[in-house]
Amino acid sequence: MENLIALVNRLQRACTALGDHGDESALPTLWDALPSIAVVGGQSSGKSSVLESIVGKDFLPRGSGIVTRRPLVLQLHRIDEGREYAEFGHLPRKRFTDFAAVRKEISEETDRETGRSKAISTVPIYLSIHSPNVVNLTLIDLPGLTKVAVDGQPESIVQDIDNMVRSYIEKPNSIILAISPANQDLATSDAIKISREVDPKGERTFGVLTKIDLMDKGTDAVDILEGRAYKLQFPWIGVVNRSQQDINKNVDMIAARRREREYFAQTPEYKHLAHRMGSEHLGKVLSKHLETVIKSRIPGLQSLINKTIIELESELSRLGKPIATDAGGKLYMIMEICRVFDGIFKEHLDGSRPGGDKI
Ligand code: GDP
Ligand code: NA
Ligand code: MG
Repeated sequence: MENLIALVNRLQRACTALGDHGDESALPTLWDALPSIAVVGGQSSGKSSVLESIVGKDFLPRGSGIVTRRPLVLQLHRIDEGREYAEFGHLPRKRFTDFAAVRKEISEETDRETGRSKAISTVPIYLSIHSPNVVNLTLIDLPGLTKVAVDGQPESIVQDIDNMVRSYIEKPNSIILAISPANQDLATSDAIKISREVDPKGERTFGVLTKIDLMDKGTDAVDILEGRAYKLQFPWIGVVNRSQQDINKNVDMIAARRREREYFAQTPEYKHLAHRMGSEHLGKVLSKHLETVIKSRIPGLQSLINKTIIELESELSRLGKPIATDAGGKLYMIMEICRVFDGIFKEHLDGSRPGGDKI
């Protein structure tokens, strides 16, 4: 039993598996057409913290300054039972059950591509997490937007990060998770600035307000959370992540989530909003939304897949069968996957299945 998000995840991975061959086929277009959620915001706005809270696990490298230096495509798969594990695209079939080792591998794999410098790379890292405690979701963690180069970084880094983030959020299929810290003026938010440029009507932007617990005494975020300060089509969601001190003291994610719930339920200003605040709520809202978007895109995806199959077939015949070369093998695999998807999408379109999201 798999749902649509899991299927699109597989299709995304299949597209990347082709890697070096991508330019010659329709696959880059197919990849662009697949909906995903990109996390954007300034450095230290709380992007990685929000991702960890959604997953309910400690697994991302962190620290002040620029830690995330390659896009991290994080695919969450809900499993009914069993032990949770993680798997990397570059290490297929190796199951990680120790999430500290996951964090270490992300750092090392980042360095493998960029060197140990503070340079960035546009080459994504693929990580999937299988757990009974997650919702089905694909999220992309991106380097934080910044205004100045530091520590021997080239001056171009500011623009390079900007370009990288844009390349993800410009796609009309991209859903933007715009992270703004509540202890800074919303007018200066990098997330709002860039998302407004690519999505002026706020039709595919989810505003997330972090660090609500760090606001100056006597101020509150009610105007923002109720959509008066900056209007988006979707309601703003406030979160309270772990502070640096919590992280240093190893406050676990379960305790942090509980404390976050209590914070909203017990703070007089936010009581009336508590039911739509917090990381757990955010995860659920995003999963539901992603599923809706994927469903609405099925007809378009289907024709793209058909086109892809035709192009792959001609590429295969040009390479010559039998498929001895690595490239041929990969193409063949992708084509098979496309065929399977095509069938699945047709089934969804028929609408013959009650409930819709399960197949
Ligand atoms: P990123 O650079 O955007 O990925 O930001 P991080 O998630 O690494 O967070 C930067 C720092 O802010 C870390 O020390 C976090 O502990 C802290 N932080 C993030 N969100 C919150 C929050 O909601 N409340 C508090 N008190 N600290 C937070
Ligand atoms: Na950071
Ligand atoms: Mg980060």
